[in-house]
Amino acid sequence: MTVPDKELFLSALRSIVGAPHVLTEGDLSAWELDWRKREHGKALAVVRPANTDEVARVVQACTAERISLVPQGGNTGMVVGSTPDASGTQVVLSLTRMQRIRKLDAANLTVTVEAGCVLQTLQEACEKEGFLFPLSLAAEGSCTIGGNLATNAGGTQVVRYGNTRELCLGLEGVTAQGEVWSGLTGLRKDNTGYDLRHLFIGSEGTLGVITAATLKMYPMPKSMLTAYASVSSLDAAVELLGMAHKHLSAGLTGFEVMGQFALSLVRKHFPQQRVPFAGEDPFCVVLEVSDHDSEAHARGLLEALLEDALQDGCVLDAVVAENLSQARALWHIRESIPLAQAQEGLNIKHDISIAVSRIPDFVRETDAAIAAAHPGARMVNYGHLGDGNLHYNVQAPEGTDAEAFLREQEKPINTIVYAQVDRYNGSISAEHGIGTLKRHKLAEHKSPVALGLMRAIKQALDPHNTMNPSAIFLP
Ligand code: FAD
Ligand code: MLT
Ligand code: ZN
Repeated sequence: MTVPDKELFLSALRSIVGAPHVLTEGDLSAWELDWRKREHGKALAVVRPANTDEVARVVQACTAERISLVPQGGNTGMVVGSTPDASGTQVVLSLTRMQRIRKLDAANLTVTVEAGCVLQTLQEACEKEGFLFPLSLAAEGSCTIGGNLATNAGGTQVVRYGNTRELCLGLEGVTAQGEVWSGLTGLRKDNTGYDLRHLFIGSEGTLGVITAATLKMYPMPKSMLTAYASVSSLDAAVELLGMAHKHLSAGLTGFEVMGQFALSLVRKHFPQQRVPFAGEDPFCVVLEVSDHDSEAHARGLLEALLEDALQDGCVLDAVVAENLSQARALWHIRESIPLAQAQEGLNIKHDISIAVSRIPDFVRETDAAIAAAHPGARMVNYGHLGDGNLHYNVQAPEGTDAEAFLREQEKPINTIVYAQVDRYNGSISAEHGIGTLKRHKLAEHKSPVALGLMRAIKQALDPHNTMNPSAIFLP
């Protein structure tokens, strides 16, 4: 695009959203740099619409000029999907001004909310009315509902409530042509042809822009109790998970595992946190039970589970939070791992899923393969064991240059891990998506038939390839 064209284009954008909401100058790194600091892109402009109509008109203006758009929410994504490339030709479409909770329908157990609403704001609004919005992740103070939907985010409550997809009953969105699609029905049953919401959920901004959603709420449980236990192995953690399902049934709302090295990073970088069981035991587990009867009932169930598990030997030691602040402190340990790992330095992340029953063997074999090929590499292993989802991450050997490690070892380490994932019939992205970071890997690991179908959908919905064109697919 030539400069005069560019000025004309920018003034068209300004006339849609107002000049203060078209950013082109100054420090734009909040929009151009991804959370993990993997890539610093360059935006043609950051555009901040206030409502769906403005989104539609911005998309029309971009499509008319064949200018690419990168939708962005809280920019907390893990796979470099929400930031522009380095060309200076892509518009970042930031949804963060669209934060309204449009309607809370208590009888229908639904809430309709705009895409830029921060997850925690929605959780708190539901709680105020006596409801639970169960999506929960460590980035909840800054990630947005639009981003959660676009990545089909998981988090720590999936074992009971499912991924974001399972929480969504309807969507409003803007197509790549700039048309508004209103699908905010809030219906639990609707078999009138293709279920379009499921195309947009998990599409990472490549098919259109999500502007609002109708989401499920749940009655707030009377009690939510948290326990923290140390276990001698991943086999023991899996055994404990099986016992927890039996004892707690649908009351089991969270089951996370944390390797001792991951926990040591929390101790190192956040020394004010008290991390229990710092001993030799290789893994700890944090688990949560929700109960609609009473706290005494929940405590009885949890204590019975832990007694059985201690007797069986799969749990070595355990604590149950006495109150909400203790529960929060235990969860905070788990949630601090990604931040502690980021402070330790650049690292190689894997967000994989495998059948729960096969996880111990996977980790044993893959740890051994990495140790043999990359002596000293440190395994930061933690994740949502209840969902079979591990963050099987690798940190540079102690005292070495993390940047050089990432540059030189990311590919060979990815190759080892993803070959193992294939052997175990797993997925190379359980919850973070593909973004730009994993698109090469998607091309290698997804079946050609599945990739062909995905490309056909992309071509049909976004024929000019203007919607987040660098994400998911290789050019
Ligand atoms: P962004 O990062 O802004 O965008 C993510 C993707 O969605 C991009 O491709 C973007 O183009 C697209 N997008 C954003 N908004 C829209 C929209 N309105 N319409 C269309 N496309 C859009 N993820 C998990 O799944 N589970 C976790 O437990 C988890 N924990 C995390 C913990 C930390 C500390 C951090 C930093 C991240 C974590 N994440 C986790 C990753 C991230 O928070 C989620 O992927 C989240 O859903 C992204 O939301 P966001 O608003 O920040 O989206
Ligand atoms: C988590 O479970 O903590 C997140 O998915 C973030 C991460 O993997 O770093
Ligand atoms: Zn996660």
